[in-house]
Amino acid sequence: MELKKRKNMINNFDDKNDIFKISSEIREATLDDVADIQALTKKLFVHEISEGYSDNLDSNWSFSEEGKKEIQERITSKKSSCGFVFMIDNQIVGYLIGRILEEETGRAELKYADLEYMFVDDKYRGRSIGEKLVKKFKNWVKSKGLKIIKTNVSYKNKGAISFYTKMGLIPADVTMKMTVE
Ligand SMILES: CC(C)(COP(=O)(O)OP(=O)(O)OC[C@H]1O[C@@H](n2cnc3c(N)ncnc32)[C@H](O)[C@@H]1OP(=O)(O)O)[C@@H](O)C(=O)NCCC(=O)NCCS
Repeated sequence: MELKKRKNMINNFDDKNDIFKISSEIREATLDDVADIQALTKKLFVHEISEGYSDNLDSNWSFSEEGKKEIQERITSKKSSCGFVFMIDNQIVGYLIGRILEEETGRAELKYADLEYMFVDDKYRGRSIGEKLVKKFKNWVKSKGLKIIKTNVSYKNKGAISFYTKMGLIPADVTMKMTVE
């Protein structure tokens, strides 16, 4: 299919499944994907800040040295973390990064999987891309012998809470917070 036609298809998908008639792929992230993941992480942080879900995020973090290094580490440290990207027409439109964390002592199940970051570009939402990314993550979690997945989400982020509930997560701990003047 010629490029112009493909671009038109991407911009005008009436049927939400039309998008998958164009080439799509979900795969493990590589170091070549870091710049795109930095850009999507920036969009995620800007979204969290502008919607009032977080008042303590640095929107430029993913492009800082520290942010870049952390994203690179998550993608390459395959024993303790993972990264997946969803591609449409060779372009990354969504990603998920996860890692293994340890609870404080005194827990029956010490290790768990933390779904650290995930974002689907707004133009591509509602087409099961988030669901496919979470499925990949669940398989990774199982392959590591872990039983628990957790993620942090602002209680104000009703959309993400609905999404995670659909994915099988249920609200658990509540983080209480205050600013001391
Ligand atoms: C949350 C997010 C990852 C979902 O990705 P997505 O590709 O649009 O989700 P899917 O299409 O796979 O949706 C799967 C299910 O969740 C539901 N869902 C997804 N987003 C929802 C929302 N905002 N409100 C209510 N339900 C939602 C869908 O309706 C679908 O249910 P269905 O199978 O019954 O139709 C995406 O909206 C996003 O990136 N949001 C901004 C960033 C964000 O909030 N990240 C996570 C918290 S840090």
